[in-house]
Order: sequence, then C-alpha cells, then structure tokens
Amino acid sequence: MSLETDFIVIGSGVAGLRASIELAKSGARVSVLTKDKAQESNTEYAQGGVAVVLSDDDNAELHEEDTLYAGAGLCDVEAVETLVADGTKYIKQLIEWGIEFDREGGKLAFTQEAAHSRRRILHAHGDSTGKEIVRALIARARQEKNIVLMPFANTESLIVNDGRCVGVRFLDPILRAPREIFAKAVILCTGGAGQLFLHTTNPPVATGDGMAMAYFAGAEMADMEFIQFHPTALNLENAPRFLLSEAMRGEGGILRNAQGERFMSRYDDLLELAPRDVVSRSIVAEMRRTGTRTVFLDMTAHDEKFLKERFPKIYETCKFYDLNVAKDLLPVSPASHYCMGGVRTDLHGRTTLKGLYAAGEVACTGVHGANRLASNSLLEGLVFGARSGEAAIKDNYELRITNYESPPEDQRPKTKNQSSEISTAVKKRVKRVMWERVGILRDRDSLQRALKEFAQIEQSNLGTSSRNFVTLAKLVAASALWREESRGGHFRNDFPERDDVNFDKHSIQKIDAEISSSEKINF
Ligand code: FAD
Ligand code: SIN
Repeated sequence: MSLETDFIVIGSGVAGLRASIELAKSGARVSVLTKDKAQESNTEYAQGGVAVVLSDDDNAELHEEDTLYAGAGLCDVEAVETLVADGTKYIKQLIEWGIEFDREGGKLAFTQEAAHSRRRILHAHGDSTGKEIVRALIARARQEKNIVLMPFANTESLIVNDGRCVGVRFLDPILRAPREIFAKAVILCTGGAGQLFLHTTNPPVATGDGMAMAYFAGAEMADMEFIQFHPTALNLENAPRFLLSEAMRGEGGILRNAQGERFMSRYDDLLELAPRDVVSRSIVAEMRRTGTRTVFLDMTAHDEKFLKERFPKIYETCKFYDLNVAKDLLPVSPASHYCMGGVRTDLHGRTTLKGLYAAGEVACTGVHGANRLASNSLLEGLVFGARSGEAAIKDNYELRITNYESPPEDQRPKTKNQSSEISTAVKKRVKRVMWERVGILRDRDSLQRALKEFAQIEQSNLGTSSRNFVTLAKLVAASALWREESRGGHFRNDFPERDDVNFDKHSIQKIDAEISSSEKINF
C-alpha cells in the first residue's frame, strides 16, 4: 500500500530539518524520511562552528571575499551573496528559537578558522556546534504538528512520472518491505558522500545516496570532482578518523612532522591556516618526504583547563585513546570530509528535474566553487534548506497529487538483488579504490584504472544501494578525469596548474549523456 503526503523531505540534518519547518509553516503535511535515528547525520558531528557576519569588525563583503577566494574562481557570486545575506538572517532566527551559541561576558564568542579574514565562527558547547543545531531544530520541528518524522526509512530511489518527481521508494522499517510515498514535491537533504573513501571524518550514513538517486532520476549533477579532504583527522590504528577541528589550529595549534619540526612554512605562507586543500597536500608531501604515515597536531602551548573547556568533546575522545591534548602530540592525517559538488540547483533549491529540490551537502548551489570555506556548510544547509522549502510551497501548493495509484517504472536499470544495504565487499573495494586512485592526488592513469575497477564491480549482481554507491564513485572519478587541471579540492599530478583558459567552468553530468560544462551552476 502506498502513502501520500504534501511534501517529502529526505534527511534530517540541518538542511532537512530547516526545510521541513519552512514547509510546515504553510500548513502542508510534511513527511521527513531519514535513514537512521533522526539525529544521525553529518550535522550532528559538526565541531568548529558556523560562519556568520555578526561581529562588530566584520561585514558581508569580507565574508563574500573569503568564500570566493576559497572557491578558486568557481563560485557563483549571486549564490555567495545569498548565502552571506540570508545567513545572518537565519542565524538570528535560530538564536530566537533557542540555540545556545557560546558567549563570553554575555556576548557571542567568535573563533577563527583557516582562510577567514575575521574571527566569525560561532560555536556551541565548545566543539559540539552541530549537536546543538540539531537539538534546536528538532525541538522547533516538534512544535509543528504536521511534520511526521520517519526514522530508519532508507530511501533508495525517486519515482519519476512524465518528467516529474512525484515520490520516493523506501524500505519501510516496520513492514521491512519496499514502499512508495507520493507527494507534490520532494526535497533531497541526504547530505554528502564522505564514506566513498577509505578514510573519512563522516559517519556511516554519509554514503551519498541522494546524489545517486537524483542522477538515476535524470537530474543534472555538477562539480562532482571537487572533494574536500580535512587535514587533521585523528590517525590511530583501528580507530575511526575522528575529526580534530580546524578551530584547534585557529586557536594556535601547530603541525609537526615525525621529527618534531614545524613544517608548514615549507609549503605556504599562511602556515597552519592555509586553505584546507593546501594543508592536506602539504601533509601528504611531508609524510612522503620523511617516509612516515602521520604528522602531529601540537596543542601543548595551551593549558589543560583551556583545552578541556574549549574542546570538551575532542578532549574526552583523545583521553579515551590515552592521549592528553595538553601534553601529547596528536597523530593526524587527512581524511575525506566534504563534497563541494552534488545535485545542480538554482538559488531556490530547484534541481533540473521538476518536482525535485535539493539543499545542503547533497546540492551544488554554486556557493562553494572548487573548495568550501570552513564552517560555510552548516550555514548553507540552513539558508538553502529554508529557501528550498519556500520555493517548493510556492511552486507546487496548488498541485494535486495524482500519481499515487500506479507506481510508474523508475528509470534505473533493473537490479536482481533486492538487498537494501550496500554490500560490505562492494563498499570495501570502492572505498579503497577511491582513496588510492581518486584521492588527494590524482592522475590520468589512476583515474582510468579506478573507472575500470568500477565497471568490473558493476558487472556483479548488485542491490540498489550498492549500485548507487558504485555509480557515485564513477561520477567522481569521471569528472576528475575530465578536469585536466588542478584547482581547489581537485589536484592532478599530471596537470598541477590551474587552467583558467580551458577549465574556468563547471562539470555537468547527466544519465546517458557525455560530460558537458557550464559557466554557472544556477540556471
Ligand atoms: P547531513 O547533516 O549529513 O544530513 C543528511 C541526512 O540524510 C541524515 O539524516 C541521513 O541519515 C539522511 N540520509 C542519507 N541518506 C539517506 C537515505 N538514503 N534515505 C533517507 N535518509 C537518508 N560544517 C560546518 O559548517 N562547520 C563545522 O564545524 C563542520 N564540522 C564538521 C565535522 C564533521 C566531523 C563532519 C563530518 C562535517 C562537518 N561539517 C561542518 C560539514 C557539515 O556538517 C555538513 O556539510 C552539513 O552538516 C550537511 O548537512 P546536511 O543537512 O546537508 O546533511
Ligand atoms: C572543523 O571543525 O574543522 C570542521 C569545520 C568545517 O568542516 O567547516
């Protein structure tokens, strides 16, 4: 039996929750399908904070300039202006809704992160900003009686009828069977795909499902080659790559090599606060130069009381691994962290497929270009979550839901295996190939080999989720092969320079079509 609602939101991170609240304000029925428990998302683990223009010595132009600089020539200026202007509005609203950002002497406390020209990062409970945002948004969403939250509802595909997205197929957690739900429109807020790589800061839910679903449904994907690798994930044998926030370097943390030398001056004048892609590549170069597999973050100039109060989660996690943040050098190395690319949208979250909207990390709005400025993504989720909710209402409110009687055929190739999980073997193989051949440093040979391996994997009997995962890996590798230059989060050993003559443009991928390009993301 199929279900019907007015609007479907997939995902309950910052973007999904904010979109749902916006939709519910209109009185519409909103169903929020989410893969795990409601809190489980990248948002929940965000540490450093959220960038916003609210301090006395800051202004919109400065935040825009920093964002554009980090984006290495590929940001859409209008999108950046929207992010910054609406960002201040929606953060103020979040404060009215009861979010508790950290304060000093009653005033909001701002921290520093790489490539920001001002201290403009708000944080909560020291290093648990994301958790506090999720808490505040869930509390606000609970006030809206017409929002129905459906946890453990793993969505596998979008239903397209007559060129329009009319619903989704998901695995009903109670019936333990596939089910359809139909609506006037669907907002994808499924987050990023850090799990594509062997080493990642992202939680297990971040497998990029929404991107693959949108691709199979016929939406355009943009800039998939741009992956951000965070420089400082805790690097311990058999432990997850727990993030050691960039805010630690913002508070004076130093990177040292295995010999204890501070090494960033070899690579960039901005030292530890150079853009993330630069720091990550510098760490790789330093590990190669010294023949080691780790470098170290040194916070020992600070006393223990300060570190315990400023970074309580990090302090406790390190303690769990027998590391004292104030006394020990902390082993770190880069890990995949953020996808700049995703489902192509306009400034209101509309994708190129009617009835389908996207917001947050799953989307490519044009705000990040080739590299995201630290702490701009929580802001993006908030701003474009709200904007996509607004647009979905405006565009579709009058629409009648007519497609729920007969589920139309989805456009995806049929799969024989009906398993809803990504097979462990497929996941392991794809993650290793992505790390080794499509990772921080790439070249034509490594990318072609990766694509060959993915084609082989595709020959096996894959379930829908596994097929989604491999397809996404292919999209990243194929666009990385197409971009014969180095820029932002994409570095080609065989084309180490930025090439504005040939590649000052975005890669666009669409099912059954060759890679094309576009001057702008917004359409
Ligand atoms: P998410 O928060 O990832 O939410 C995605 C949701 O979709 C989840 O609820 C998930 O369960 C659901 N979902 C996924 N697939 C499916 C499916 N198939 N069916 C149903 N539901 C599905 N950014 C900052 O700006 N500042 C920071 O300090 C910061 N720190 C970070 C620290 C860490 C460790 C990580 C991993 C990221 C950090 N980021 C930070 C990035 C930021 O957290 C994310 O980009 C942002 O939270 C993404 O929000 P989102 O709503 O788009 O997606
Ligand atoms: C961090 O705290 O270092 C993560 C910030 C971000 O990804 O924006």
